[in-house]
Amino acid sequence: MLAYTLIEKKQQGKALTKDEIRFLVKGFLKKEIPAYQMSAFLMAVYFKGMDADEISAYIDVILHSGKRVRFTDKSAYYVDKHSTGGVGDKISLILAPLAMASGRVRVPMISGRGLGHSGGTLDKLESIPGFRTDLSLLEFRKQTDAIGCALIGQTADLCPADKELYALRDVTATVRSIPLICGSILSKKIAEGIQGLVLDVKTGNGAFIPEYAESRELASKLKYFGEAYGLSVRPVLTDMNQPLGEKIGNWLEVEESLDVLKGGGPADVRELSLVLTTQMLSLADPGSAAEQIRQDLETILDKGAAFEAFLRIAKTQGADIRYLENPERYRPAKHIMQVKAGREGTIAAIDTYQLGLDAIALGAGRTAMTDKIDPRAGLIVHKHLGDAVRKGELLVTLHSAKMKAIESLAAVIGQRFTVSGEFTSKPPIVYEIL
Ligand code: URA
Repeated sequence: MLAYTLIEKKQQGKALTKDEIRFLVKGFLKKEIPAYQMSAFLMAVYFKGMDADEISAYIDVILHSGKRVRFTDKSAYYVDKHSTGGVGDKISLILAPLAMASGRVRVPMISGRGLGHSGGTLDKLESIPGFRTDLSLLEFRKQTDAIGCALIGQTADLCPADKELYALRDVTATVRSIPLICGSILSKKIAEGIQGLVLDVKTGNGAFIPEYAESRELASKLKYFGEAYGLSVRPVLTDMNQPLGEKIGNWLEVEESLDVLKGGGPADVRELSLVLTTQMLSLADPGSAAEQIRQDLETILDKGAAFEAFLRIAKTQGADIRYLENPERYRPAKHIMQVKAGREGTIAAIDTYQLGLDAIALGAGRTAMTDKIDPRAGLIVHKHLGDAVRKGELLVTLHSAKMKAIESLAAVIGQRFTVSGEFTSKPPIVYEIL
């Protein structure tokens, strides 16, 4: 088999066999197929798609590139949540300890790094000094059973093919593809050894798949292929026409998550965390009324029990929790600049995708596979859809070690906000639960 002919076959829109898909993925992982050929293949998939047999084979090949966790405690329910990716999406940092604090489920979570314009849970966790995300599989399994949750990334053991493909897609503009997203998310989640999976499928101008109909198609494909592996899958279609919360950037998002974990923080972040965690617990216990589960979760947040659970996870994974207990200890970005609104009106639209790219330009994400992230970089969005704004009022605050990046962004970032004279209704946080 030749990578060249397989790229050509996909370029012509033909379906590949499982052996051919395995040849490409394994060859890439073993470095026998170079990144430039794999990039060409991914781009061909991006344009030509994959049929159901190919998607199923692609998921299976990535899944079998590593080991699979098997939990043995039959009395426990193992459940996770995964987002298709958004801007300011810090929900995992809240939901995992919240679900753990409920004592009703265990959460073994494998997350990814920033991808394209969107942030990644792994980069956020690693902004916490000392936080180890590279636990061995044994440590991962033991910690999940001992305390109820563990948070790690793809490893050399677990879905190594996704780790490599993910990093390549990140820098080759090949993220926006339903088959590639299905392969990436489901392989990781099946490998975790979970029984239930809640999927936060983002839709809107900051999502990888912006159109509603296509987001819905992604949601139903994720459900279909996940169920084929015996998982109970619950996709939730949620809005991404504006950043979630106010803060975008790794440590900034940890800070905002801590506020929510202590019962405060932005209302949209709290609401989505509650909705998705409720779905996780209701997968575990379909007999319980969702309203009661939600009320219990609200109490857990307000009492600070989810915050305590997060401290426990962080401490177990080696973090210096003094930074979580007193976030003001964390040294801020070298340069911070406020940008004011140029005109008066109502925020009618926000270019969320571009704000994600702006955060990367400030140092919060990668533009090449070898880039190092600046954990302090990012931005704070002070106005959301439907908010009234006066000329000269604070719109965005930029954080970066790179003064040049701040200066060039400060000149254009106001353009990400459409300010109109008319009232704009706020979009819902959740559209649909499938
Ligand atoms: N999240 C993932 O893990 N993979 C994708 O491809 C997109 C979002």
